Amino acid sequence: MSKNNRRYIIAGNWKMHMTRADAQSLVTELVETLGRETAVRTLVCPPFTALSDVGKILENSNIALGAQNMHAEPSGAFTGEVSAAMLRDLFVTHVIIGHSERRSLFGETDRQVNNKVQAALKSSLKPIMCVGESLQEREADQTLAVIERQMSVGLAKVAKSKAEQLIIAYEPIWAIGTGRAATPAMAQEVHAAIRALLAKQFGDEKAAQIRILYGGSVKPTNAKELFEQEDIDGALVGGASLQAASFIKIAQAAYAMM
Ligand code: PGA
Repeated sequence: MSKNNRRYIIAGNWKMHMTRADAQSLVTELVETLGRETAVRTLVCPPFTALSDVGKILENSNIALGAQNMHAEPSGAFTGEVSAAMLRDLFVTHVIIGHSERRSLFGETDRQVNNKVQAALKSSLKPIMCVGESLQEREADQTLAVIERQMSVGLAKVAKSKAEQLIIAYEPIWAIGTGRAATPAMAQEVHAAIRALLAKQFGDEKAAQIRILYGGSVKPTNAKELFEQEDIDGALVGGASLQAASFIKIAQAAYAMM
């Protein structure tokens, strides 16, 4: 296929949902269907409180464990926060950084995102750095300017040797949780711009290896047409990741592309 052998990633962002019992039953269902598959990287990002239990069920499966956030410092007086080392301790391999909800509801800045990306890479966690414009920014024709700022500050000082560990998620804010996904063409346009920015910073070869996920109202019904786009390498799924059936269907749409 023409996507430079990039393996699709289908990541579930459970947000602030799922007690331990709910999490265990959801992930048990996922393991039954997706646990042996290797053609696509599947990944679940439960809340911190369920990481340990979910991790135990994922042991010996091919589904990876991700967190939804982390602090940039290795330890210290940061009440309520969790470090990269604490995540590693639970066999977490991926971490979502700079989700738009972190940015808009918790005041996370591009600079903080950059500190977290660097800290994650230093601890061998794969950061899934989220970028995306608001509806107002899109309507004001600011989309690419916003993405460029989020990318350049967010990835500042990231070494070229670590570039292929990066995962970028393009999530237009107006598409998150609204049922209104970007059209495949709209998403592809931004994904191509993101890959061009990656190429400028890391060179063409590295940029061709980095996975760029789309997020924002991904569902079984729109996954295939999104995955067919040249620069869309999978999805960061919110609402549809809370039910095994819909998450599995989205993953299967990615398998069907291989
Ligand atoms: P959604 O959320 O799939 O519910 O739109 C995506 C996200 O916020 O990562």
